[in-house]
Amino acid sequence: MVVSVDASKRASSIEYAIRDVVVPAIELEKQGHEIIRLNIGDPLAYKGLQTPKHMIDAYKDALDSQVNGYGPSYGISPLRNAIATSESRKGWACSEDDVYVTHGVTEALQILFAAFLEPGDSILAPGPHYPPYMAYPQMYGAKTIEYKLDSENRWRIDFDDIRSKMDESVRLLVLINPNNPTGNVPLPSELDSLIEIVRDFPRCTLISDEIYDGLDFSGNFVSLASRSKDVPVITLNGVSKVYFAPGWRIGYMAWHDPRGALNGVRDGVERLLRSRLCASTPAQHGFLAGLVEDHGWLSSHRELIKKRLDYSLSRIESIEGLECQPPGGSFYLFVKIADPALASDDKKFVLDILHEKHVLLVHGSGFSPEMGKGHFRMVCLPEVDLLSKAFDRIEAFLRGD
Ligand SMILES: Cc1ncc(COP(=O)(O)O)c(C=O)c1O
Repeated sequence: MVVSVDASKRASSIEYAIRDVVVPAIELEKQGHEIIRLNIGDPLAYKGLQTPKHMIDAYKDALDSQVNGYGPSYGISPLRNAIATSESRKGWACSEDDVYVTHGVTEALQILFAAFLEPGDSILAPGPHYPPYMAYPQMYGAKTIEYKLDSENRWRIDFDDIRSKMDESVRLLVLINPNNPTGNVPLPSELDSLIEIVRDFPRCTLISDEIYDGLDFSGNFVSLASRSKDVPVITLNGVSKVYFAPGWRIGYMAWHDPRGALNGVRDGVERLLRSRLCASTPAQHGFLAGLVEDHGWLSSHRELIKKRLDYSLSRIESIEGLECQPPGGSFYLFVKIADPALASDDKKFVLDILHEKHVLLVHGSGFSPEMGKGHFRMVCLPEVDLLSKAFDRIEAFLRGD
């Protein structure tokens, strides 16, 4: 007799909408259908958005020189130093010791949640948000409470809503800037309001996920840490979006803690970092080259993304039944399904488009069951010809063709 072994409740409750919708898409591809995938924010999946050559060369040189051993748990020193310089240029005093290199921002999140959260604690995260902000805290018996973003006004932060949800159980207040999935880039004065709110709650730390910082098209981007003189801010960033190498899995956290309030939790973070050994050594050398060498290449990547984003927005605006708030940054559109009958089940809407028109989107409720419902997220990275084909199919779906 085979005894069936169940997954823990912890594991079975994990969802990651962006990749979960790929499962039916793969089935369709196996049947021979060509699917236009607009689900994952991976620039490398599309033409013209490649990892810069000097970064690849540095990675390869490390491999060729046998720099393939374990590295220090907090990251190789020249990279920590280059990150500190890059963060300091954004307007706050960051030293090498403030930087910890991780396997992507995603690993930094796992470590932060493990170090900060006890059962009964909560985190406040924007609604909608990048899914791990909801999935991971649950693993530690904590919960994610979403604060409202204004869906009718460029998804701006609703500060009254944050104020009404702050209490002693809130250990982390998360900002995603520019936001995934909405593209909102808060004004400096809005960052100041966040800091002001947290100042009254010393048990709460600000997390600022700035992984799309170099893809701000509004001109409003400012680092949250640079606005704070006293309230601790942990900045997250990495190689995945602005350095166009998500498969390298390198990210970092940079701690701005002017008064040393976080020394205790930092000890926990360091223990966790040591227990998982280190991030990939040769990949860290690739990121180092990206940080220290000239960034001139970035402007053509940015232009291409802006062109594709603008094209996508203009197509959405011309399609009856869809509405979209213009994003300030990143490379997504978070699109409202206007027809209440279709909007009532956004997952079904996305799966119907997938099955009938072979375009893969992600349902808005995957980014927030409450605040993302009735929407879908699309990635605007493909070349315009491919985007055009995708929009023709979405338009045909809405017309009932
Ligand atoms: C807001 C945000 N943070 C983090 C990540 C993932 O970062 P990493 O590849 O460094 O784990 C993503 C990926 O889409 C994201 O949108």
